[in-house]
Amino acid sequence: MRIGIIGAGDMARALGGGWAAAGHEIAVGARTTARAAAAAAAIGHGARAATVAEAARFGEATLLAVPVDALADILRTSNGDNAIASDGVDGRVHVFTDRTVIDCTNAFAPDPGGFVLSEPAVAERIATAAPGARVVKAFNLLAAEVWAGSERAFEGRALSVPLCGDDAEAVATVAALARDLKLHPVPAGGLRRARYLEAAAAFVVGLWFSGQDVRAMFPPLESAFAVPDEGGLPLVRE
Ligand SMILES: NC(=O)c1ccc[n+]([C@@H]2O[C@H](COP(=O)([O-])OP(=O)(O)OC[C@H]3O[C@@H](n4cnc5c(N)ncnc54)[C@H](OP(=O)(O)O)[C@@H]3O)[C@@H](O)[C@H]2O)c1
Repeated sequence: MRIGIIGAGDMARALGGGWAAAGHEIAVGARTTARAAAAAAAIGHGARAATVAEAARFGEATLLAVPVDALADILRTSNGDNAIASDGVDGRVHVFTDRTVIDCTNAFAPDPGGFVLSEPAVAERIATAAPGARVVKAFNLLAAEVWAGSERAFEGRALSVPLCGDDAEAVATVAALARDLKLHPVPAGGLRRARYLEAAAAFVVGLWFSGQDVRAMFPPLESAFAVPDEGGLPLVRE
């Protein structure tokens, strides 16, 4: 599929590199031609350099791989000449309307012994700023180096990626993109739950940066005493 990537840093290269290697067409959009070209070269497999607006138009799915404080600007810039019109979803349309937008951002702010969030619900803000965009929160939990690496199982358990989004088709698209990276996708609820994924990242990454082994804090599923409710909705739809 055609994947637009906005941002030309570590996450753009890690995820874009894997998707390009899996056969997807990539356009990476950056503020300068030189940065876009360097990222496209690092991604390889014919990835092309683009402007932010070009990358936004290119993608059937678009990865937002920029700092959170750049998002407002990006969502304006990516809309290019498409002035927000009066006949779209909820009265407005955006270049991302009806398209899959993957939000991997983290709003980390330093705090003693870890991080706090500089804002509580980034993915929801993206969905509001780009009306009709099919936003999926994903890939924010682990470092770019992990996504770029080849280890896909630890202690015999597949490395899993939680996905939060309201649009089932978009979640399925991102699940397929996770599988292309040899990862195990785990649909983890609607976009309203993305804020918990964002908070989980701040909490867990803060502990890791403090030298704590987060994995040791959680038993495996079979020892977690988590019995699904009778008739409860299955969380994982595959
Ligand atoms: N790195 C990780 O391990 C990791 C893991 C999980 C989540 N994340 C999240 O993923 C996002 C990207 O992280 P990253 O590590 O890839 O960051 P990065 O290496 O610093 O790259 C950020 C990219 O965003 C671009 N950018 C910044 N402001 C922009 C603007 N106003 N318009 C257009 N482009 C702009 C930068 O452009 P220039 O090239 O022009 O500077 C740069 O290419 C962040 O929200 C981060 O919290 C990162």
